[in-house]
Amino acid sequence: ALVTSLEGQPQLREVSGIPLQASTVDNWSQIQNFEAKPDDLLICTYPKSGTTWIQEIVDMIEQNGDVEKCQRAIIQHRHPFIEWARPPQPSARNAKDCMVSYYHFQRMNKILPDPGTWEEYFETFISGKVAWGSWYDHVKGWWDIKDRYQVLFLFYEDIKRDPKHEIQKVMQFMGKNLDETVLDKIVQETSFEKMKENPMTNRSTVPKSILDQSISPFMRKGTVGDWKNHFTVAQNERFDEIYRQKMEGTSINFFTEL
Ligand code: A3P
Repeated sequence: ALVTSLEGQPQLREVSGIPLQASTVDNWSQIQNFEAKPDDLLICTYPKSGTTWIQEIVDMIEQNGDVEKCQRAIIQHRHPFIEWARPPQPSARNAKDCMVSYYHFQRMNKILPDPGTWEEYFETFISGKVAWGSWYDHVKGWWDIKDRYQVLFLFYEDIKRDPKHEIQKVMQFMGKNLDETVLDKIVQETSFEKMKENPMTNRSTVPKSILDQSISPFMRKGTVGDWKNHFTVAQNERFDEIYRQKMEGTSINFFTEL
């Protein structure tokens, strides 16, 4: 059920200081008590960092590159979101492009708060007051523990630069061994252009009252560096300074252009 305020604006509530959708907060104990099986694969992404992309890559690998099998259902049903309590590997995307993508997503997503102007959203994002919380905490948190658990940490920018190489890493992580032609097919089928046309991945089946794709398409641009079309020079300087402070002490390094 959607929970909206009196003014009709969707409201976020908090769990341990992390803003989440109300329906997630209502079901928190159930989510918290979820018990994974030893071979469960958790795709764990910050919003707008290529969740759908890695979901499709993982399913294509699991189905040995069988396109028809990957057409069996929409992506949200093939890999349900645990926090939607119908029943998450970290994939990270540089914070600047992520902010831009999230801004456009909140413009078209009617169950998340309206983002306001770009200037307003810039402040909201850097303060972490967005659904699923702070980008910095998410990325630092997973980066810190990645060597202690069976975690494959992927970068959106790497998949963009060399999809085959990164898809091969996912395949090895999943314990699969697919031959070159299948890998090449997966690269093709999970390209932005293909996934934008694919009704099982482009969210075209979600009603306009929830995702209004006439405002901004779910498969929007799929590039690295779109932040340059949004950030002013002053915003960029301010962002870099805050980024240095928040990410101090971590060894993680993002590409913000290719
Ligand atoms: P943009 O808004 O910058 O275009 P998520 O799935 O986590 O919501 O992430 C959405 C972002 O990933 C969007 O970014 C979307 O276009 C991009 N994306 C989705 N599929 C992609 C693909 N196959 N290749 C590159 N980018 C993709």
